[in-house]
Amino acid sequence: MTKRVAIVGAGPSGLAQLRAFETARKAGVEVPELVCFEKQSNWGGLWNYTWRTGLDENGEPVHGSMYRYLWSNGPKECLEFADYSFEEHFGRPIPSYPPRAVLHDYIAGRVERSDVRKYIRFCTPVRWVSYSEETEKFTVTAKDLSKDEHQVEEFDYVVVANGHFSVPNVPHFEGMEQFPGRVMHAHDFRVADEFAGKRLLMIGSSYSAEDIGTQCIKYGAKSITFSYRSKPMGFDWPEGFVEKPLLKKLVGKTAHFADGTTSEVDAIILCTGYQHSYPFLPDELRLKTHNCLYPAGIYKGIFWQSNPKLIYLGMQDQYYTYNMFDAQAWYARDYILGKISLPSREEREADIAKWLAYQDKLTNPFEAIDFQTEYVRELLQATDYPHLDVDKVAELFKEWEHHKMEGILTYRDRSYRSTITGNMSPPHHTTWMEATDDSLEAFMGQPQHYKKHAAGSPFHLDATQTAAE
Ligand SMILES: Cc1cc2nc3c(=O)[nH]c(=O)nc-3n(C[C@H](O)[C@H](O)[C@H](O)COP(=O)(O)OP(=O)(O)OC[C@H]3O[C@@H](n4cnc5c(N)ncnc54)[C@H](O)[C@@H]3O)c2cc1C
Ligand SMILES: NC(=O)c1ccc[n+]([C@@H]2O[C@H](COP(=O)([O-])OP(=O)(O)OC[C@H]3O[C@@H](n4cnc5c(N)ncnc54)[C@H](OP(=O)(O)O)[C@@H]3O)[C@@H](O)[C@H]2O)c1
Repeated sequence: MTKRVAIVGAGPSGLAQLRAFETARKAGVEVPELVCFEKQSNWGGLWNYTWRTGLDENGEPVHGSMYRYLWSNGPKECLEFADYSFEEHFGRPIPSYPPRAVLHDYIAGRVERSDVRKYIRFCTPVRWVSYSEETEKFTVTAKDLSKDEHQVEEFDYVVVANGHFSVPNVPHFEGMEQFPGRVMHAHDFRVADEFAGKRLLMIGSSYSAEDIGTQCIKYGAKSITFSYRSKPMGFDWPEGFVEKPLLKKLVGKTAHFADGTTSEVDAIILCTGYQHSYPFLPDELRLKTHNCLYPAGIYKGIFWQSNPKLIYLGMQDQYYTYNMFDAQAWYARDYILGKISLPSREEREADIAKWLAYQDKLTNPFEAIDFQTEYVRELLQATDYPHLDVDKVAELFKEWEHHKMEGILTYRDRSYRSTITGNMSPPHHTTWMEATDDSLEAFMGQPQHYKKHAAGSPFHLDATQTAAE
């Protein structure tokens, strides 16, 4: 009987799994029956922007943590799919740091072409997954929100690809209850314009703090005070930004920090990260981890140790993103197809322990980049995923780190060479600090010269026109 695979989530990770199977099917391989459950009404995961916060139109927790004016925080050359270049999608090289809408278009373009939409049940959140030792099958319960009905079906494998940047980690600080201004988590941040003229306090010292803080200055905030728990970000911050140790308490609008200094602030954004959350999994199947490069308990960063038929994609902290999800999805596919067999439980445990020991030794971002590069390399070597030169990608990541240190407000104006096509990206027509319109059309420039590709979303230069027209 044909095996059945359930995929939870149609974000970049779940879509990578669909693409992996579809590629095999088109090559003549018999593939299992696929059902991808997606709680939102469209694909793309976090890249599928929503203005909503809190609960969505169905009363479900909003998945989206992305905001208006979000631009890629790493070069697109580091996340490029090896089987679908940006140039293939857009018809020409494009600048290295696209805004969200452009990346969503790119993700969607690839899966539209591989015709996998038919496998996805939209507006259908998975509610519960259980495993029977007797039947050796998973029972998946999902809710079809449009019909207001539950579906209960059996599967041989379950791929968990629900992301881990959607359930906010929200610490409390003394005096918050009385603070006379807005207090929110980055998950609910949507539009920087709201903070024009305001003095902002950002708690946290990672990507959300850095990006939301710089973005708010770009859209007119008066000042940004970052408050770190472990260590400052350490960029050469221009005027208007300051880094302080951890917030101790709030008294009215006065923020008191661990070093005894104070700042007056009008609003607070908690950029304090996210929780891994799998409300649809019982304890014995549920990954429990914080945001790290190698969560314990999953072999190859994918297979649940006590039941490898439960597969996790994209659960690591991420330097690599789309192409790492591909590497994982191709590996998981080949395991499901029987092309890759897993070693004994003891050997898997020893392999996990080896990676965890390596992770423990990491002391800086450059070593962390090397770590994830080795991880992705190991997965790629085992499958027929098209060639991805991870050494070159690692070099780009390291260049990017240097460029950020050289100018936190200017690094997005840099260009990098595609490791897939070998072509250099052109500079963007406007510097990031001046580019206030984040639409796909504005990014591509001169919208009248672009037309929708007949097959769907990709925007191509109309061959009958030239950019000079
Ligand atoms: C603010 C922010 C900015 C980011 N910017 C970048 C960037 O610039 N570059 C980059 O490479 N990466 C960036 N990332 C990292 C991001 O994690 C990845 O790019 C990518 O979106 C991860 O894909 P995913 O499929 O694993 O998870 P997600 O994108 O989170 O997708 C998970 C999907 O699962 C669905 N889902 C969840 N629960 C259920 C359920 N119970 N049943 C059915 N479906 C469910 C969700 O609706 C969603 O569609 C950013 C992350 C955040 C939070
Ligand atoms: N434009 C973009 O592309 C963009 C923008 C934003 C986010 N992102 C992505 O979003 C993902 C998540 O990034 P993130 O910054 O939200 O999360 P994160 O990288 O997990 O960082 C969480 C931060 O919160 C701090 N923190 C946690 N609990 C705290 C507490 N109780 N008190 C004080 N500080 C606390 C942590 O401090 P410690 O260091 O002390 O643990 C850390 O600085 C990343 O993959 C990132 O790339 C991308």
